Amino acid sequence: MNSPILTHSATHTGREVPEDTVDSLLSKMTLEEKIGQLQQVDASADPFPDDLIDGVRTGRIGSVINLAQTDACNRIQRVAVEESRLGIPLLMGRDVIHGFRTIFPIPLGQAAAWNPDLVREAARIAAVEARSQGVHWTFAPMIDISRDPRWGRIAESFGEDPYLTGLLGSAMVEGFQTDDLSGHGAILACAKHFVGYGASESGRDYSATNIPANELRNIYLEPFRRVVEAGAATLMTSFSDIDGVPATANGALLNGVLRSDWAFDGLVVSDWNAINELIVHGLCEDGRSAAAEAALAGVDMEMAGDAYARHLAGLIEDGVLSISLIDSMVARVLRLKQQLGLFERPYTDAAGFDPLVSDRALKVAYESAVESLVLLKNAGAVLPLREAQLGSIAVIGPLADAPHEQMGTWVFDGQKSDSVTPLQALRQQCSGKIQVNYAPGLETSRSRTHDLFGAAETAVLKSDVALVFLGEESILSGEAHSRADIRLPGAQSELLARIKALGKPVVTVVLAGRPLVISENLPNTDALLYAWHPGTMGGPAITAVLFGKEAPRGKLPVTFPKSVGQIPIYYNHKNTGRPPNASEMILIDDIEVGALQTSLGMSAFYLDDGFEPLFPFGFGLSYGHCELEDLELSQPEIGQGEQLKIRVSARNTGGRTGFETVQLYIRDITGSLTRPVKELKAFKRLSLEPGRCEVVEFELGAADLSFYRRDGSFGPEPGRFCLWVSTSSEGLQAEFSLGA
Ligand code: GLC
Repeated sequence: MNSPILTHSATHTGREVPEDTVDSLLSKMTLEEKIGQLQQVDASADPFPDDLIDGVRTGRIGSVINLAQTDACNRIQRVAVEESRLGIPLLMGRDVIHGFRTIFPIPLGQAAAWNPDLVREAARIAAVEARSQGVHWTFAPMIDISRDPRWGRIAESFGEDPYLTGLLGSAMVEGFQTDDLSGHGAILACAKHFVGYGASESGRDYSATNIPANELRNIYLEPFRRVVEAGAATLMTSFSDIDGVPATANGALLNGVLRSDWAFDGLVVSDWNAINELIVHGLCEDGRSAAAEAALAGVDMEMAGDAYARHLAGLIEDGVLSISLIDSMVARVLRLKQQLGLFERPYTDAAGFDPLVSDRALKVAYESAVESLVLLKNAGAVLPLREAQLGSIAVIGPLADAPHEQMGTWVFDGQKSDSVTPLQALRQQCSGKIQVNYAPGLETSRSRTHDLFGAAETAVLKSDVALVFLGEESILSGEAHSRADIRLPGAQSELLARIKALGKPVVTVVLAGRPLVISENLPNTDALLYAWHPGTMGGPAITAVLFGKEAPRGKLPVTFPKSVGQIPIYYNHKNTGRPPNASEMILIDDIEVGALQTSLGMSAFYLDDGFEPLFPFGFGLSYGHCELEDLELSQPEIGQGEQLKIRVSARNTGGRTGFETVQLYIRDITGSLTRPVKELKAFKRLSLEPGRCEVVEFELGAADLSFYRRDGSFGPEPGRFCLWVSTSSEGLQAEFSLGA
């Protein structure tokens, strides 16, 4: 039976929703049915509990989360459509963060590819796989700016830069939603967590965030502004306390910035039980006041909580909330169901979709994994491995053959049986040609015993090269999984040192959900490839890069600190009144005993760790060697309506095809607010044959130089600017001016 309300066959092209459809439905709904649409309930229990079925049947539930199997989704949907009074279909939500069944690199790894097209393609594949199993709504992209690698959720982010995060977050939204939500395999995106969650104090998840207003506007809000422009259908509020007002009750940000300044007309959903947590935060006395705060602030739907269900009716009766407010919240829910075509087609027929883990899905997963890999060290060009010169390789480490771990955090529907591990791929690559000697050396990344070291050393001694796979299991990053000491866990560093001492060439591959502090490990390896958690096809991708079938091309989307003590450390920092420089630094070992109380150094550095990171944002090596030369600007000054044209030549002076990402940074030298020492504004990805030179062009205009100024307005300010064109955070420099 189709819904009795909507008999016309609406053909929707996305956002234009016939209001009469929604209005006519609203006019028929009871208050209880309206409040029901604002509930998202956990449906992971199998079989469905009676209260879930009853809640759906009586119209007291509008959405479920954690159901992602066609038959089960259709079963609960039939109750909604065929047994409830108005037959309003359910929205099925699921965390499809970096793949559904085919798992792509964690978002931090996808960010290292600096490839929005690939992010979009992976999201499209994830959406079609999820939609084929009954999912209508994913809770991604996560676009929290992350500057603290102790924070476990940095794994889910696109890193520290607002421009790159906004670009990749928008690409993910487009991949999930396409331009027609009622089209094949389209699902709702949900940009999260609005806002500032990545600034969780001391990197401990859920802790308070104290973000100054200008930093909030110009750094943390910027990616959300971009994804709202890109058409994100929904947003999720953050758990975090924002300078005393938790995001889930922060009307200034939700109704103010999001809805009023940015004219966002989509849906806002709370995070899991975050409305009731307003009591725990100490903002609200009880569930009733929490429900009032969240509804008045602009939260439409409650995820996995009961504050709205228990208190909205009473708040309306008492005149605290208006029915028109409730109607606007319910209308946003109904419009999304309408745009998805759920009133006409509430059920899912998996037969209409490609099989899960299709060849194309695996191909894109492989490409994503290849492009996510960042080569951080390659002493003596030990990579790529010369197959013809190898008789045997040692494959060592707890992450060489860990099919579940390589998928990374936030994987619900991926299957480790689909994973191809590095060991499996290396055995396939070497089969019949090169002897593979495998010894894990440690049972897990956290093992502290050296019991297995001997076997590992034996494997290395009978091999021509040691390939060592170290890092973190997937559970050591992600939600609630922050670490205070972010070096390699367990006895991995000791294992690597013991292997290096054997005198063979050593190649280390790190699989982790965050930038680890690997300073002590660098001297113990000739080459280091950072693989993040590379997903289902991590093994073949790593193998292809190790043997030169693919060239590494990833660039760091986040700064790597020398030590945890340097955190937070990020490239787009302020200059301060006493910026450090290497020549004036005084290092702790150079200080005499009895030193007079003079001010040592007089600038912003550490006596023991200086001020520079281990590896900067934007860094990554390839197998070619790209030199930048002949930087030219079209003019020394541009007017407000003009475009500055920037040209540079990129030449591969190496002997192998290399990939390069040429990056454009600016610095606004003086402003009504102090501005970062560098801001990424554009980049171009190149593939260069040996000896080949390519001219790269960029354009910059006043809009690219705009920011939220001291008076709160958004726009550019006339004055002098520096620009850099680089393949990392260093590079060729020039100056230009913006006229009044
Ligand atoms: C979690 C996360 C959020 C996720 C939601 C549903 O607590 O904070 O990112 O989408 O709950 O699983």
